[in-house]
This record gives sequence, structure tokens and C-alpha cells, in this order.
Amino acid sequence: MTEDEQKQAAAEKAVEYIKDGMVVGLGTGSCAAKMVDLVGAMVAKGLKITGVPTSEATTAQARSLGIPVVGLDEVNVIDLTIDGTDEVDPQGRLIKGGGGAHLREKIVASLSDRMVVIAEAKKKVAQLGAFKLPVEVIRFAAPALQPRLEALGSTPTLRLAKDGTPFTTDEGNYIYDCDFGKIDEPEDLALTLSTMPGVVEHGLFIGFADIVLIGTDAGVEVIEIAGEPSS
Ligand code: A5P
Repeated sequence: MTEDEQKQAAAEKAVEYIKDGMVVGLGTGSCAAKMVDLVGAMVAKGLKITGVPTSEATTAQARSLGIPVVGLDEVNVIDLTIDGTDEVDPQGRLIKGGGGAHLREKIVASLSDRMVVIAEAKKKVAQLGAFKLPVEVIRFAAPALQPRLEALGSTPTLRLAKDGTPFTTDEGNYIYDCDFGKIDEPEDLALTLSTMPGVVEHGLFIGFADIVLIGTDAGVEVIEIAGEPSS
């Protein structure tokens, strides 16, 4: 199976969790986009759901497919969110934000009764940290935060757009992609980053994933994660 086929298989399994009448958080990224396409096809066949997109890109995709979408002014409880990931460890802890949408993704996940994570096989890792941790910061604080992120033991790189200017998130912030190497204590790092003034959100998702669906050559691996508090 190609990586694309693995993503497709995981997305197909994930949409089986969607039931008529649900409010569904719609993730961002290439794997989530496959899921949104499938949801669009289901809506075209009569499925009644309300989508809560996690980015402007997903909003545009969902609208183009005829999926009814709302913001958090219209719903504040979400039945199910389906989203991709950049890494997932055996405890279901995630690194997200490769696409720069982790701020809205985490807000939507935090409001969700259940989060289903979908990914191709290479995203499943023994320990988080090979993927650089995205840290979203307000622009004013960016110059001051670089040395502080270094002091935590990382090598932060300001994310750039294709034209060489700083990448700007949907909320108008910048992102440092932080190379921490292998992350031994994700909970501690998550707490430290969350309490730094100027850091808006980091890409560690701890305690959010309920079910992880990994597309593999042998089929979709279904991993149920035991409940823990989220951070
Ligand atoms: C968006 O910011 C991310 O959190 C994505 O969900 C994550 O990067 C996975 O994206 P891909 O499925 O494109 O790898």
C-alpha cells in the first residue's frame, strides 16, 4: 500500500464512527482531507451532520462539498472529531501542527466527546520528537521567545511560507518548529510551553485521542486509548 492508500484506508474506517445527527469536528491536513471528501460523499447521499472545521482550508473544502459547517458561536459540544497527526506514540500522545492548524484543532478536540485520529503507518512512533514540535506564538513575542525556546533545549526555526516570509496561521500568529530531539517527558514540556507568555498553543496533544486508526499494509490498525486528562 502507498502512504496515500494507507491514509485513505484510515479515513474510510474513521467515517464509520459518524452517525446521523452528529456534530463532527473536521480536522486539517492531507489525511483529514480524505476524510472530509468521504463525509461530503455521505452528505450527498443523505447523511445529516453539522461540521465544525479546524481551519480555513477545511472550511473551504467542506463548503465545496455541501457539508453544513458552523463555528463555535453555534455549537459548543462536538460529538466526534476526526483529525490527522504528525506523530502518535503508544499512549496516544500526539504531535500535530505540521499544517499549522493545531491551535484550532486543539480547541475543537477539547470540546469533543470523542477524538478519532487517522494516519498512515509511518506516523506511529515509539517516542515523540523526530517531528519538530510546532509552537504557535504571537508575532509581538516571537523575537523574545526564540532564546527562551532554545533555553528549554530545542532548536527553534521560524516557519516560512513559500515566498520566504514568515508563515502566518489562520489566527495571524507565527510558528516555531522546535527540534527537541526525543521528548522524554511530553506532559512536562506541554505544561512548560503552555505557561510561557506569548505562546498561543503547542502541538503536543496529550489525553485527547480516544481511538487511533493507522493505515498499514495489513489493514487498518485500531488502537483504543485509555482515558486520561487532556493538556
Ligand atoms: C495540521 O496542522 C496538522 O495538525 C495535521 O493534522 C497533521 O499535520 C497531519 O497532516 P497530514 O495528514 O497532512 O500529514
